[in-house]
Amino acid sequence: MANQDELFKKIASHCKEYGFIFQSSEIYDGLSATYDYGPYGVNLKNNIKQYWWKSMVQMHENIVGLDTAIFMHPTTWKASGHVDAFNDPLVDNKDSKKRYRADVLIENYMDKIEAKINKEITKAKKRFGDAFDETQFRATNPRVLANAEKHATIAKRLATAMTDGNMEDLKAQIEEYGIACPESGSKNWTEVRQFNLMFSTQLGAVAGEAGKLYLRPETAQGIFVNFLNVQRTTRQKLPFGIAQIGKAFRNEIVARQFIFRMREFEQMEMQFFIKPGTQMEWYNYWKETRMKWHQAIGHKAEDLRFHDHDNLAHYADAAVDIQYNFPFGFKELEGIHSRTDFDLASHEKYSGKKLQFFDPETKDSYVPYVLETSIGCDRMFLAAMSHAYTEEIVPDAKGKDSTRIVLKLHPALAPIKCAVLPLLKNKPELTSKAREVFNKLKYSFDCQYDEKDAIGRRYRRQDAIGTPYCITIDFDTLEDDTVTIRERDTLKQERISIDKIASIVLERTDMGQLFA
Ligand code: GAP
Repeated sequence: MANQDELFKKIASHCKEYGFIFQSSEIYDGLSATYDYGPYGVNLKNNIKQYWWKSMVQMHENIVGLDTAIFMHPTTWKASGHVDAFNDPLVDNKDSKKRYRADVLIENYMDKIEAKINKEITKAKKRFGDAFDETQFRATNPRVLANAEKHATIAKRLATAMTDGNMEDLKAQIEEYGIACPESGSKNWTEVRQFNLMFSTQLGAVAGEAGKLYLRPETAQGIFVNFLNVQRTTRQKLPFGIAQIGKAFRNEIVARQFIFRMREFEQMEMQFFIKPGTQMEWYNYWKETRMKWHQAIGHKAEDLRFHDHDNLAHYADAAVDIQYNFPFGFKELEGIHSRTDFDLASHEKYSGKKLQFFDPETKDSYVPYVLETSIGCDRMFLAAMSHAYTEEIVPDAKGKDSTRIVLKLHPALAPIKCAVLPLLKNKPELTSKAREVFNKLKYSFDCQYDEKDAIGRRYRRQDAIGTPYCITIDFDTLEDDTVTIRERDTLKQERISIDKIASIVLERTDMGQLFA
């Protein structure tokens, strides 16, 4: 775990050092849990958004896009249940004055039990070597069995307390498990109370409750209230989906772990409107489709897993997370929720407007059910970075071993696709040829010109931002219009003619290959 903590710190500092992510308002000592994306960060984030958008909107005839306002009529949030039920259980430590989510304290306690199980398994693997059968070991080892049972009992009790909003039981659990404040070790806790996560602000000159507006805590509601506008204007029939990317805001009690949990973040959400009764079929379809989407950009199968919700949100009849193995363990990356007709039916009730679909085949009108896929763009960014960040030993220009940091991002996601480098800075014939090549390539993709420092250092700089191809202009280029193209991961260099660069780089960095 210490190594993983170390790795996480390295990723965060790499993001800062290479212009991917900065702390918001850093010159004023920052604002907690808010971050700004730097020049390479914004390119990577835009590529992630494009990958998602194209996979939803471009690849499905029956999914269309939308971009709704962050501010919505305040009744929206009453109807959606967020005013009454979008709460987290808050507990303070009286000695350290630190604030925690009671459910997260209990989950962390459960993680420790899981870590004990994993330790037993690692030990046994070492002892038995190739003959080790993990399934059998889990089913028979008494210590593993006892811990697994303890884990399951706590998970069940936590889920029940969360579903019932039973704050007393959460407090009782913290006491029974002897959970201490991670900062101070103190067990002196306040009562657990509900804390609403929505940020509010005031509309124009309207004073008091009447002018109270919320910053949306999810983009989904903008889709629900526009369901009929979109369905009518695009003449879609069920099943069809509406996709949206946009900012969401939550006053998280504890916002840690860099961009994993922020107070202002970006969501990529798709609501798929379906016939009531077909929700399990679509639930399974979207589970599988979304898992493939994650694997297509090179995430290893063993770093992704499904995790069924023990504790369903107020709108869902089934829900699963796709978890990613971040440096701090498996955590939620994306949620897939069967939202029933909860949202549309509730908006019908509060607005007095019908939000129904007229089925031309059965001549029936009904409120559709909804299957939602919802992923945080920032979490996807962190998963991509965690996967890509690599330190490895490679030969330097003189053939000696040296350590390089390279971001092995999928080429389609890389912020810069290709760098153009004159071999030497002080040879005008090389720099002007390199500029000429760069000026042609920049029309086709994100490209960078760099002439500062020795060529080896420039390669390393491009490796550190994940540039898949470096083009070097040397003296042979002046003779025969050929260049070397260096591939980031294999370090292989090929000689190609200048007029082939654009098509080679375009073909190898094309996002289309991800959909095939
Ligand atoms: N519309 C459903 C919804 O909002 P959610 O599970 O609360 O469901 C969906 O959020 C996704 O949004 C999560 O899987 C996560 O990727 C992202 N997300 C949620 N809260 C976040 C936060 N505070 N910071 C960054 N990303 C967050």
